[in-house]
Amino acid sequence: MNIILFGAPGAGKGTQANFLINKFGLLQISTGDILRDSVKQKTELGKQVETIMANGELVPDEIIFSLITDRLNDKDIKNDFIFDGFPRNLKQAQKLDEIMNEINIHLDFVFHIDVEEEILTSRIQNRAKQEKITRKDDTSEVLIERLKVYNRETKPVLDYYLNKNILTVIDGMGTIDEVSSDIFMTIKKDFKVD
Ligand code: AP5
Ligand code: MG
Repeated sequence: MNIILFGAPGAGKGTQANFLINKFGLLQISTGDILRDSVKQKTELGKQVETIMANGELVPDEIIFSLITDRLNDKDIKNDFIFDGFPRNLKQAQKLDEIMNEINIHLDFVFHIDVEEEILTSRIQNRAKQEKITRKDDTSEVLIERLKVYNRETKPVLDYYLNKNILTVIDGMGTIDEVSSDIFMTIKKDFKVD
């Protein structure tokens, strides 16, 4: 089972990825986490993307394609995948289809975790207060930019998946457990799981 968790900054992609990992043993591919780790390790890639991420802009597609291709082509990995924070524009969505076709796997679900902007802002503010090491992009100024980028570049991708009939909109305003339960119920309709 291969899943995309789609949503604005703070919608709960990472949170629900954890639920799906525990429930189904899927492998999470979070482009944001991979990039943040490279910045932390001060790798060449990290140096290239640090400022872009701190400003809330999208990292160039070519960098993202190479990260995704590396992971999907890793012969040791037998798991199915959760894509968290990818694809983020139409070009990335088309590229994901291409790569998946090549290795003969397909997408089962795209979950759009839908949350109002006001709530997103308060969630990000809370996270910034709670985390020991605050993300550089978790400031109110950068969040405004991240939301702009989301609305301009990422949100249009929803139509792409709507046309493919694999989009499910999940109300992301409930509690974490309620959101997990909605995702689970949708999966249950198509897969024999409990
Ligand atoms: P990325 O790491 O993907 O960040 P993001 O999309 O801004 O999303 P977040 O991780 O902030 O939120 P989330 O949806 O995971 O929410 P979470 O579960 O943490 O990307 C960062 C940057 O990397 C980008 O700006 C870009 O520069 C670059 N990048 C990454 N991917 C890229 C790509 N494909 N192409 C180009 N550039 C890319 O939840 C948020 C908070 O809310 C948490 O504290 C959580 O506990 C809480 N919470 C969650 N759900 C609930 C709930 N239901 N009720 C109450 N609280 C909740
Ligand atoms: Mg996240």
